[in-house]
Amino acid sequence: MSKVVLTGSGRELEACTGQSLLAVLQEADHPVATSCGGVATCALCRVTVKQGKEHLSPVNEDEITHLGSVAKILGLRLACQAIVRGEGTVVLEVPEVEDVAAKKAEKAARLRQARAQGSGRR
Ligand code: FES
Repeated sequence: MSKVVLTGSGRELEACTGQSLLAVLQEADHPVATSCGGVATCALCRVTVKQGKEHLSPVNEDEITHLGSVAKILGLRLACQAIVRGEGTVVLEVPEVEDVAAKKAEKAARLRQARAQGSGRR
């Protein structure tokens, strides 16, 4: 049995080998953003591993695609792709769900504005 400790609240969650961080968070009723249900397509489940990355599966290609090549350096993971391996403690920073939704809305607004400006130049 491993342990996932959340920064901020200090809450400790139990985690089993083979479980994704997304599953650990959802089983503990901790809010985590997702729209794809854990198949690595939405990138909303982004978390930061502060300690204990050695107790997780290696960063995979889907994560590099969504998070960029600096993911390993910064400790960024997709919670749905980071699988608990062995026993140990993982310290995790999980963004507020509201923050993720707001950032997504901001990005969509920027894209709409860029498209509108682009179409206005023609
Ligand atoms: S839940 Fe969608 S990418 Fe992880």
